[in-house]
This record gives sequence, structure tokens and C-alpha cells, in this order.
Amino acid sequence: MSAGGIRIAPSILSADFAALGRDIAAAERGGADLIHVDVMDGHFVPNITMGPPVVQAVKRAATRPLDVHLMIEDPDRYIEAFVKAGAHMVSVHVEAVPHLHRTLAYIRSFGALAGAVINPATPASALEAIAGDLDFVVVMSVNPGFGGQKFIPQSLDKIRRVRAVLSAAGSNAPIEVDGGVDATNIEAIAAAGASIFVAGHAIFGTPDAETATRALRALAEQGTRAEA
Ligand code: DX5
Ligand code: ZN
Repeated sequence: MSAGGIRIAPSILSADFAALGRDIAAAERGGADLIHVDVMDGHFVPNITMGPPVVQAVKRAATRPLDVHLMIEDPDRYIEAFVKAGAHMVSVHVEAVPHLHRTLAYIRSFGALAGAVINPATPASALEAIAGDLDFVVVMSVNPGFGGQKFIPQSLDKIRRVRAVLSAAGSNAPIEVDGGVDATNIEAIAAAGASIFVAGHAIFGTPDAETATRALRALAEQGTRAEA
């Protein structure tokens, strides 16, 4: 997986859970490239969301690949179930996994792309030893657990540092940014070197998810041109 073009990944955490199919369809009409699914267990993060049965239902509703973000302890126990439910990309937190190299290989063994997520307090250098084995990196720009939080500005510098760590390992893996992404900051995030943009509140917290998705994509494209 190379850095490639811009991908907008609407997070269904902020969608209407009683109308997920409708909300996903709206985001896809607006140009969503991925559907981001936040899995929380009430242990690694202080919130509980959804498990494999919901991912399976989302898979039936979506036409875009599912990007499943595991904010859970001991993710190895559930990886197979999430990939079988329809996950195309699976990311695990470096803070939750004692044997990251093994877990990434385990994700790939089921045919999914494997990513590592770093929390705001985790330095880019935490990825140094594993950089060559990552299909993608997720930089958390809020503390995980809830949608609708404010983007932490230091995340821009973190993105640049992660890019440097990947480059030093000869990797062109894409950087995904998750948390507080909106129309005011997505250009700067793109210019810093990210290419996958998760957005929950900024898409499903508006009256028109289709228009919001389209607008974010246009701004991200401007930011990417600024980077070049
Ligand atoms: C936070 C989740 C995010 C969240 C992003 O714990 O990992 O994916 O849904 O939502 P917004 O865009 O509302 O910050
Ligand atoms: Zn997420």
C-alpha cells in the first residue's frame, strides 16, 4: 500500500446507528473512499461501541472497503472475526499490543491490510523498529474513545515525524489521521503528509453527510497540492 491519493474515511461512530445504511450511502455519494469503523471495548478506552456482527451489517450496506480501528485490549483474540466480518484494513494500537510484529503478520494472514495506531502521547519513534512491516500508520489526533473531540495541533508535527520514520525504513506507507479532522484543519493535515482522513463529527454531525464529505475531499486535495 503506497501513500497514493487522498482517501476520505467517514467514521460511522458519529452516524445514526438506527440508520447506518442511509448514512453510509450518503457519505459514499459524497466520495467516501473507505468506511471507518471504531471498535471500543470499555477497557483500552472508556467507551463501548460495536463488534463483528455490526461490522458484518456495515459490510452489507457499504460499497467501499472497511477500515476497522481496534481500540481494544488483546486484539489478537478478535482479529479473525473482524476480517471474516468484512474488514479490509485492520489497525491495532501499539499501546495495546505486546508483540506488534506478530499481530501485524496475523492480520495479514487473513488477507487484510495491517496498520499500527499511535496515541497522542506516543512518539513517532515507537514505529522505528516496525516501520518496514506496516501497510499503513494511524496517527491519533485526539485521545481515543469518543467522537467530536478537538484536534490536537501537535499532531501535525507528529505526522511529519512519522513520515520521516517511514522514509528512513524505505517505506511509502500511507499515514491516516484520526480525530478532530474538519474543514478548518484538513488542508494543513494533508500538507503535513497524511493521505487518509478519518472524519466522524465533521461528516455525520452535519445535516448533509454527502456535501460534507465532498467538501472535505476538495480541501484535502488543496492541501496535498500545497505539500507538493
Ligand atoms: C476516536 C475515534 C475516531 C472518531 C473520530 O476515538 O477513533 O475515529 O470517530 O471522530 P471525530 O472525527 O468526530 O473526531
Ligand atoms: Zn478511529
